[in-house]
Amino acid sequence: MDIGIEKIGFYTPKNYIDIVELAKARNQEPDKFTIGIGQDKQAVPAVYEDAVTMAAEASHQILTDDDKKNLGLLIVGSESSVDESKAAALFLIDLLDLPENIRAFEIKEACYGATAGLQMATDYIAAHPDKKALVIASDIARYGINTPGEVTQGAGSVAMVVSANPQVLKLEGKSSFMSRNVGDFWRPTFSKTAFARGKYSNQIYIEFFETLWKQYQAEFSVSADDFKAMLFHIPYTKMGKKAMRTLQGKISDAKYAQLEKEYQASILFGRQVGNLYTGSLYLGLLSYLINSDVKSADQLLLFSYGSGAVGELYSGIVGDDFKANIPVAEIKALLSDRNKISIADYEDVFQQSISDGESVDPTTVSGHFYLSEIKENERIYSKK
Ligand code: COA
Repeated sequence: MDIGIEKIGFYTPKNYIDIVELAKARNQEPDKFTIGIGQDKQAVPAVYEDAVTMAAEASHQILTDDDKKNLGLLIVGSESSVDESKAAALFLIDLLDLPENIRAFEIKEACYGATAGLQMATDYIAAHPDKKALVIASDIARYGINTPGEVTQGAGSVAMVVSANPQVLKLEGKSSFMSRNVGDFWRPTFSKTAFARGKYSNQIYIEFFETLWKQYQAEFSVSADDFKAMLFHIPYTKMGKKAMRTLQGKISDAKYAQLEKEYQASILFGRQVGNLYTGSLYLGLLSYLINSDVKSADQLLLFSYGSGAVGELYSGIVGDDFKANIPVAEIKALLSDRNKISIADYEDVFQQSISDGESVDPTTVSGHFYLSEIKENERIYSKK
């Protein structure tokens, strides 16, 4: 039985900042941010947006009534959770009008969460071939104003329907993974921003890729030539390239040049949005499927990495009708129809939050879903 991703949706906030303007405001060379880090724009969430509202938006873009009827599993992967106890997935039952006979919960393991969800959903479909699963990656990446990580912030959500009809990407069940207790990045429960040993996290990311690539080749008797592209978790778009460089000299120059070309297609959207944390790999997949010359039956290798740390390298085969199952026009419109805000306005929004007893004026809301009020310390969400 074929199992994998049937459709993918995407959401990113309406507002963004220009990375050159950010560099100037931080007295940095613009080339460091645009070339050295590899970003152009950074999504800035509104005060009424969070992991829940963005997850609802990305899911709303793809879910039909038929999908909703057949959903048996809903997993939200997030490291920007809105509650220490209640799962983001529960709010979505109401916002998306989902049935109650569904297992709904949240997974956390830094940027690996959505991959854990995807693998779990694949197992679920193997046991329940008539059902569907919804796996959502939803995050706001925050390091703080004037920190080294600030240039690698971002926000957005990727929603994937997993089923026995994998029109977008068939998952072959070939996967190598590893987990190790590492202090490269963390966010204590008291803090809204992450702490990172930036250079160390780069080093571990690269080491995990090298180890897993060796393991994957030995386990499945493959070489780089078997893959049309290698897609990476991209906290910033230079990162995947650093890991890919470890292949230089080990594979033919022609193959390396081709993989580099494919990589460029996979980072086009990431450059416009910034870090999605657990959604970053899947935004890279979307970017690649929309912006490259990839064809159905091409084989892709995906590298998922979550600080802390878990890494997984797995492969997928591009589905028969992948473009028809991705809302290409909506995604392109979402990215092109945004508002640039000033660095001063971004700094302002960054500090804002809704307090207990406060509510949001719905006429100021740009999307379909929003945090409408906090009442008795409970977050109340609404749809327009
Ligand atoms: N033109 C072009 N490139 C330039 C440049 C210029 N004027 N000035 C600097 N650069 C390059 C540097 O050579 C470097 O490239 P390299 O990484 O290929 O060596 C890159 O820009 C970044 O410069 P660096 O001095 O290392 O930046 P930094 O000390 O500000 O830290 C991060 C960068 C990524 C470590 C930091 O943003 C961070 O901590 N991010 C959060 C953690 C993270 O994203 N981890 C990823 C793993 S999940």
